[in-house]
Amino acid sequence: MHHFRYRNGILHAEDVDVREIAAAVGTPFYCYATATIERHYRVFAEAFTELDPLICYSIKANSNQAVIATLARLGAGMDVVSEGELRRALAAGVAPDKIIFSGVGKTRAEMAAALDAGILSFNVESEPELHALAEVAAGRNRRARVSLRINPDVDPHTHEKISTGRAEDKFGIPYDEAPRLYGIAAGLEGLEVWGVHMHIGSQISELAPFERAFGLMRALIVALRAEGHDIRHADLGGGLGVPYRKDEPDPPHPSDYARIVEQALGDLDLQLALEPGRLITGNAGILVTRVLYNKPVDGKHFLIVDAAMNDLMRPTLYDAHHEIWPIAEEANAGPMRPTDVVGPVCETGDYLARGRLLPALPEGALLAVMTAGAYGAVQSGTYNSRPLVPEVLVRGGKFAVVRPRPSHEDLIALDRLPPWLSSRG
Ligand code: LLP
Repeated sequence: MHHFRYRNGILHAEDVDVREIAAAVGTPFYCYATATIERHYRVFAEAFTELDPLICYSIKANSNQAVIATLARLGAGMDVVSEGELRRALAAGVAPDKIIFSGVGKTRAEMAAALDAGILSFNVESEPELHALAEVAAGRNRRARVSLRINPDVDPHTHEKISTGRAEDKFGIPYDEAPRLYGIAAGLEGLEVWGVHMHIGSQISELAPFERAFGLMRALIVALRAEGHDIRHADLGGGLGVPYRKDEPDPPHPSDYARIVEQALGDLDLQLALEPGRLITGNAGILVTRVLYNKPVDGKHFLIVDAAMNDLMRPTLYDAHHEIWPIAEEANAGPMRPTDVVGPVCETGDYLARGRLLPALPEGALLAVMTAGAYGAVQSGTYNSRPLVPEVLVRGGKFAVVRPRPSHEDLIALDRLPPWLSSRG
């Protein structure tokens, strides 16, 4: 469900004609719909009403200040994984006591910044990190509230690069080692051990892996409590998938996901936290691009557009499928042919879609790459010296540029010449 619809034959973002935004900001650009972000947050929150969890939006999915502020106003907390994300959350007005710091490689400086900000809790992923956090906290006369991230060795059946809960993945503490590490943590000055954390992967399209992981979490909590640990908190991570393809069944609904959480953990009197990212912003965003050239070669058709792999990495990095919609609906009436939608970057891996059935699209036609609101702009870069693309947020009939397009001068000005190369040197 999202708010990008054809109206009078033209794709609209909520009530705004996408052509109007393209005329104002140029292409390519990311466009987000406030109504979709808010709807997804509400649907997710309502599914969990009974359990009353803290919903910490995983801001790595889309960390634009406007997106964070939209969610913060609805009461969302944030899951952050770096000092940069921590600062973004604080700058957007998120209450520190709704921020959870995850991540496999927090530096001592990052730990100190988070402690000074007064965040809710840290998710710790290894024994040395536990000692480092204890040291940093004790050195500041603070106690860091801690959950240990446990790796349950559950295969989430998603793309290899976004599976995080198998034994061979770098994340978390092996399940069997958990009791020993809780024992160590309990004895460290500077720590208050209060919870258990798991996050088994992203874009998960079945409930069974979650069910297995939460069942293991339950058993662990019961065992830890029996050993005298005061476990009051469980952070279940994110990972619930979103629909990317029109020809695939939808992933489970948040209410089905909530039911398995309730079944596994509902009677344990826990303060729950959830860290959805993609689910909130995934299909709240599109990447709008313009056709530069048509290039038929050897029985193949290349559609060369002005967005590229540096703007949306997901297709080349994860073989991800994003639907591509012409902004002018009438184009869809024409005959379809397999098309490779490619960008200007000098790599064969620079594609947004391969072998996709698309109608003939003339130079200058606008296209929307759908479901690009999560892990789109945040993973973009400036390869081939292409400035980052702007981000636009729509709300009803209004739109605002929430990250302007940097100029080429801005990009070049990030570099410095050493004294021996500058004319003044
Ligand atoms: N919590 C933790 C600890 C995480 O590592 C992640 C995502 C989330 C929550 C949010 O997961 P979500 O609800 O969004 O699935 N760039 C990849 C996805 C990487 C996910 C990384 N961790 C992609 O474009 O598919």
